[in-house]
Parts: sequence; C-alpha cells; structure tokens
Amino acid sequence: MSSIVQLQGLTKTYGKGSTQVTALAEINLTIQNGQFVALVGPSGSGKSTLLNLIGGIDKPNAGTVRIDGQRIDGLGEQNLLQLRREKIAYVFQDARLLPSLTSIENVMLPAAFHRKLLKGARERARELLGKVGLAGRADHMPHQLSGGEAQRVCIARALFNQPRLILADEPTGNLDHRTRIEIVQLFEELHGEGNAVIMVTHDPELADRAGRKISLHDGEIQSDETRTVH
Ligand SMILES: Nc1ncnc2c1ncn2[C@@H]1O[C@H](COP(=O)(O)OP(=O)(O)OP(=O)(O)O)[C@@H](O)[C@H]1O
Ligand SMILES: [Mg+2]
Repeated sequence: MSSIVQLQGLTKTYGKGSTQVTALAEINLTIQNGQFVALVGPSGSGKSTLLNLIGGIDKPNAGTVRIDGQRIDGLGEQNLLQLRREKIAYVFQDARLLPSLTSIENVMLPAAFHRKLLKGARERARELLGKVGLAGRADHMPHQLSGGEAQRVCIARALFNQPRLILADEPTGNLDHRTRIEIVQLFEELHGEGNAVIMVTHDPELADRAGRKISLHDGEIQSDETRTVH
C-alpha cells in the first residue's frame, strides 16, 4: 500500500520567547491511501495545526510533509493551490457556503477556478447533491438550509474535484446526534470508495467508527490504534 500522507519530524511553534507555544513536536506519521483516521485529543493538543500543515494551509518550523510522495512544505503558493485543488478537500466545523449562491452553485464553485472542471459541472454538482441526500435542495439558498444540510452541501462541494484526501476539522461539532451519524456515514462511504479521510472529532462514538484512531497530547502522538471495523 502506498501512502497519501507522510510526516517526518514535523514541528510547529507559535510566538517567541516566554510566550512561545509548541503546537506540534517532531511528529512522525504515515497515513495510507484510503485510510479512515480519527484524530482526537484535548483542546489545544494540536489537532487543527496538524490538519492545516497536512493541507498546506500552514507551514512547519521544521520537518517535512509529503502528500502522495510529493514534498509540499517548501512549495510556493501557486503550486500549493494546484495540489490542493487536485488532491485535497477541506471540511470545516462551520459550513462555509457563499451566502449569495444556491446549493448547487456552491457545489459547482471549484469549477470557477479550474477550467477543466467546467464541462458538465452542473450535472456533476446535481449528482453530488443527490449523493449527500439533498437532491431536493439544489436551488435553496444557504440561509434556507438546516445546519446539517449546509454541512452536507460543503461535503458535496469538497468532493467536486474528486480529492484523494479529505481533511475534516470537527465537521459534526455543531450538529445533533442523528445528523452527526449521517455525516460520518458519508465519510465512511468516501473511505469505502478508496479515499483517505482524516477527521478531527471530540465525539468518542464517532472516533470509534474509524479504522484508526490517533490521539494527540501537547503536540505529540500519545497513541495510535488501528483496528478492524465491520
Ligand atoms: N495562530 C496561533 N498563534 C499562536 N498560538 C496558536 C495559534 N494557533 C494555535 N496556537 C496554539 O497551538 C496549540 C495547538 O492549537 P490547535 O488549534 O492545533 O489545537 P486543537 O487541538 O485543534 O484544539 P481545539 O480542540 O480547541 O480545536 C494551542 O496551544 C494554541 O493555543
Ligand atoms: Mg481545533
């Protein structure tokens, strides 16, 4: 199996002198293609920082990040953007939709930045909305959607460019129990299709559904358990 994420000696500090915080301390980690990973740990343990470094949103102070074998920690903005568009999807805790666009237009948004995605974009967006159970909400505006529906539109949009790696930072944080399970089932489906998913969660029930659970504590990996899920 080849790896989609490979981290070596990854270190991130914020600030200087007496206010310096070590958010991540020499993390070594390999995530295989298609793995479903839950990232857990107390508030401030470095989960979001780790996700941001993997997604190329932030740069480390030391160490290397490889995505699909390619080093990205030294890449320039343009190359990073391209890599993100081709391989990585990000889903945040708060559904970040453009308020003036309908659901289907929000899902099609990546095509606006990527000419080769333009052809058939509307059909593809419609298909993805169907996949997340929102075929009937294509022409709704974001303010007409529930929190869970808005989050599902975000997931549909994240899938638009067929990412191999999905990074989700507490994607179910603001949702009720039933909706949370629905969102996680979507991630399970994506994992079943061969995509790697890294999901930050505070919810032990959700974390237990992933094939691998990594616990962070004070910027270090405290435990890393792989198990068979049915
Ligand atoms: N931009 C920043 N400037 C300074 N310190 C930061 C910054 N971002 C994060 N930190 C610090 O780095 C550490 C790790 O933060 P991070 O956001 O990764 O934690 P987390 O595990 O995602 O927490 P939470 O569960 O609360 O989201 C924290 O101590 C935090 O205060
Ligand atoms: Mg966080």
